[in-house]
Amino acid sequence: MHVDKYEQYWIIAFVSMLGVFVAALLAGAIIFGVRVPTPQGFVDPSNLQDTEFANPGVRDMGDDEYEVWMIARMWQFQPAELSFPVGSEVTFNVTSADVTHGFIIEHHNANLEIVPGHIAQARVTFNEPGIYRIQCHEYCGLEHHSMYMPITITEATDEE
Ligand code: CUA
Repeated sequence: MHVDKYEQYWIIAFVSMLGVFVAALLAGAIIFGVRVPTPQGFVDPSNLQDTEFANPGVRDMGDDEYEVWMIARMWQFQPAELSFPVGSEVTFNVTSADVTHGFIIEHHNANLEIVPGHIAQARVTFNEPGIYRIQCHEYCGLEHHSMYMPITITEATDEE
């Protein structure tokens, strides 16, 4: 079968390009640990009172570990503020009571899409004292721009 020279070049270029894409995917997954965000569980958004989200807030798990159960709704997060000592490792479990919201924490590696019915999870360690905002970064209606809340990270104290 005769394949024109230029046709061959294009085939080689195309197959090499595919190889680069596959290599980039594998390198991301294996070397850099990139994972597609998947829901940790499912809830009925119209029936949150029968779930852990009935009581949004912080659970102290000991050893500087905390769990946060949080509801996003137009246009606020519940709880409305959070505070942890520096060095805390916090697992956020977030769901939405109405529409799709977003969730990022300033200067930290947490970026979630909050879909009604899904429980999104992010684990964050806070190593620097300061005030960091959780912001909704998914357009969710008129007051989207005011949907944020502060996390205060306090200096370590000696008291236990
Ligand atoms: Cu919630 Cu934008």
